[in-house]
Amino acid sequence: MFGLTRAKRTAAATATVAAAAAALLSAPTAQAAPQPIVGGTTTTTTAYPFMMQITDASQNQFCGGTLVSPTKVVTAAHCMVGESTSSVRVVGGRTYRNGTNGTVSQVSKIWIHPSYTDATNGDDVAVLTLSTSMPYTTASYVSSSQTGVYAAGTTARIVGWGTTSSGGSSSNQLRTATVPTVSDSSCGGSYGSDYIASDMVCAGYTSGGTDTCQGDSGGPLLIGGVLAGITSWGEGCAAAGYPGVYTRLTTFSNLVTTQVNS
Ligand code: ARG
Repeated sequence: MFGLTRAKRTAAATATVAAAAAALLSAPTAQAAPQPIVGGTTTTTTAYPFMMQITDASQNQFCGGTLVSPTKVVTAAHCMVGESTSSVRVVGGRTYRNGTNGTVSQVSKIWIHPSYTDATNGDDVAVLTLSTSMPYTTASYVSSSQTGVYAAGTTARIVGWGTTSSGGSSSNQLRTATVPTVSDSSCGGSYGSDYIASDMVCAGYTSGGTDTCQGDSGGPLLIGGVLAGITSWGEGCAAAGYPGVYTRLTTFSNLVTTQVNS
């Protein structure tokens, strides 16, 4: 959750950093200032009713989640590491992190992908079962056959309460932005062997500037309004050449459905 970026730096990634640094040296004013997610605009849970805060027992938000049935929330496995059903809550209908409104539910079951070890190894998906039904419109999610939705350049929407710059503070109000999906070859060029195309999909502008960041994890990557990815990891946030990495939900759709129907 907080602070998880990426511990390892591959040779390929280092080469890209060197290239980016060289580009900055020749054009020092080309570096975009960090923008408030990073980039994007404020929004509400009225606009995104399926957008859930994942909080601790004191209702402090630390991750996002997506309501896919009245009692089931899709989030990231890395958000749930070290958590228990008694340590987390899910809050719906609350636009502001410091709000007290909306619906608070306890969690009766946490399913974490059984193969999950680290976000950079893939399998970064979890499903929470709620004790209380959420009275909000749910999101539909991709089926396992919809692998075409990630075609490079497709507009995707990100939503969350995460930090508005790398190492910055969380946003009090929910934010959203759009980012284009990135090809597997391009993302593999950025991240080397940490990018696992079967389990991950990247999204972001080549020049950076707009991205999910710490605290956005677990939240949705929506394509055509349908849940297609889960905010997972990245090198810093909104950095040129390092798009955000999202769980490729088509790969896990059948597993999620088993949990949703359980
Ligand atoms: N791991 C972060 C979290 O737990 C999300 C990081 C997303 N990073 C990115 N550059 N898109 O909130």
